[in-house]
Parts: sequence; C-alpha cells; structure tokens
Amino acid sequence: MERLLSGMQPTGVLHLGNLEGALRNWVRLQKDYEMFCCIVDWHALTTMYNRTDEISSSAREVAAEYIAAGLDPEKCSIFLQSHVKEHAELHLLLSMITPLGWLERVPTYKEKRENLGLNEESLSYGLLGYPVLMASDILVYRAQAVPVGKDQVPHLEITREIARRFNFLYGDVFPEPKAIVNESAAVVPGLDGRKMSKSYDNAIYLSDDADTVAKKIMSAFTTETKIRKSDPGIPETCVVCQLRKLYDPEGYQTSWEEDRRGERGCVQNKRELIDIINASLEPLRIKRKELLADPAQLEKYLEDGAERARQVTSETLTIVRKAMNLR
Ligand code: ADP
Ligand code: TRP
Repeated sequence: MERLLSGMQPTGVLHLGNLEGALRNWVRLQKDYEMFCCIVDWHALTTMYNRTDEISSSAREVAAEYIAAGLDPEKCSIFLQSHVKEHAELHLLLSMITPLGWLERVPTYKEKRENLGLNEESLSYGLLGYPVLMASDILVYRAQAVPVGKDQVPHLEITREIARRFNFLYGDVFPEPKAIVNESAAVVPGLDGRKMSKSYDNAIYLSDDADTVAKKIMSAFTTETKIRKSDPGIPETCVVCQLRKLYDPEGYQTSWEEDRRGERGCVQNKRELIDIINASLEPLRIKRKELLADPAQLEKYLEDGAERARQVTSETLTIVRKAMNLR
C-alpha cells in the first residue's frame, strides 16, 4: 500500500476551504492508502510563538474536526507533530543541505515577510525554515504523495528538490512525493471573494452554528453590477454561486442560468445556499461536539496515532543516520 502524509496547522479551527480543499480528499483516500494525518503544532509556532496556549487547544479541535469530517482513527493515524520527535531530527539534518536561496524564493515566505512589514524581530529563523520542516514531515514517512490545497504546491516542489539533493549526496533514500490536488475545490472563495482563509476574516468555520452561517452568507459579496433582481448576474465571479456549485454539483446549473438571465435575486440565492450548507455541516457539527465532550478518548486517538507514526519514522531515521555516517 502506498503511503500518504498530510497536515494542517492548529492556528485556529478549520473552515470550508480546509474541508473542501484538503480534508475531503483525505477522507476519500484513506481506504486506498496508508495515511498519516498530522496536526503540525511546531509549524504553528512560526507565527504564534507568543500564543502557545491557543495552539494546544486548537490542536485538539482540529483533531476532532478531522474525525468529524470522516477520518477514521483506526484506519489512518492522526497525531501531533510535536509527539513524534523524528520530524525535528530530520529537519535538522535536511537544514544542512538546503540552500538559503531556495527558501528565500518560496512565495509563502515572501508573503509572510511582506505582511509582517518592517518588524524584523518577528522574522525568525524558524519562519524561513518552514518549508524544510514541512519537507521533513513528508520525507520522514517516505510518503509517495501529499493531498493538499493548490496553495501548497510550491512547498511540495521544494520538498522534492530537497529529497533529490539528499539522494544525490547520500544515496537513494527518499521517494519524490507528488501533490494530490482536488481540482473541483482547488481554491474555495471566502465571503469577500478572496481565497477563504482564517487570516482574512472571510471564512465559514466548521464550528459556526446555523445562525452564524446564515448571517455570514447574507453578508457575502455577489455580482457588483447586480443591484436589482432583474439585473443579470455573473455566476463565475459571484461567491454565493461558486459555493452553490461546490455544495450542489448536481443541481446548481438551473440557479446559475436563472441568475444569468436576471430571473433570480441574490437574496433567494443566499437563502437557498444557507440551507444547503447548513444541511451539509449539521452531521459534522454534532460529531465534532461529541468528540470534544470526551477529551480522554480524543487524547487516546492522538496517542495511538503517534505510536503508529513513530514505528515508521524511527525506521526512516535509522536509514538516514546510516546513509549520513552518523553512527
Ligand atoms: P489558512 O489559509 O486558513 O491559514 P491553511 O494554510 O492552514 O489555511 O491551509 C490548510 C490546508 O487547507 C492546506 O492544504 C490548504 O491548501 C487548504 N486550504 C486552505 N484554504 C483553502 C481554500 N480557500 N481553498 C482550498 N484549499 C484551501
Ligand atoms: N504548510 C501546510 C499548510 O499551511 C501545513 C503543513 C505542514 C503540511 N507540514 C505539512 C501539509 C506536510 C502537508 C504535508 O497548510
């Protein structure tokens, strides 16, 4: 069975972008692959080093959301990155062979650096090394593929480059992992039309109740030039229409045609979307609540997951140390 690894940062609870762009794919893949689903709490420290208590509680919520979305903790290993120390050891070793220039060119680093502005103090060594830690997360499982959203593809490219460099220097140890991207939800739009992200305050969260979802969707951007019901809409650039397509793949066309012809108002469009999304999220909300009500059981899932992860990672590090003459 081929092996997959993926992960998300516990920098908050998950939203529809995380769910549709990444997590749904993991759920689909778990029956055909040996899966490792990591909650990368060390990565969260790159931006939240001064709010460590939040990372730890978000990590438990994210674990509950993984399971509520359909990951089976018996089938796939769900665990915290910081519980499997081999990720850190491999990170250190890979950091020695990764040229600085590769890291400075990574788009997510450039973006974060710009967002932080002139605040040089928050520009840490760890933030620059983020992709090396991510490469370690993947390579320590000698994973063949990584299911992620489209924005993570550059990180996968640098992971392959690091693997290639290691193999060239020390012999063939790592496969070069591919990205698995769900094209139908490659970039889920947020309420303001930009990519849905917890950093933009434009997200619908799995933890939002039905009323919150309704309020958020009522405030979503639609076609700017559509003011009256009879004005023609442009579904391709309307957030509400895009989410309708994602959540109603069978039936969305009729609503899109009516929108284009000016036969359907934005309020009707929003009301219908609210019902569709709430119906889809309700079972997940119930399961999420149940899981969070039993923290001991959740901890047990995470311990079992870490135990299974360590069986693979300790074997990898034995091979790596030997290849690098670290006896
Ligand atoms: P955020 O932008 O909210 O901080 P993350 O960067 O933590 O989200 O993303 C976690 C996972 O979810 C990644 O695999 C990422 O590609 C995917 N993802 C995040 N936002 C979206 C989105 N709007 N559409 C599709 N996938 C997304
Ligand atoms: N960089 C990923 C994100 O922001 C999180 C991540 C860390 C990850 N390590 C990983 C994703 C390994 C896949 C595989 O979403």
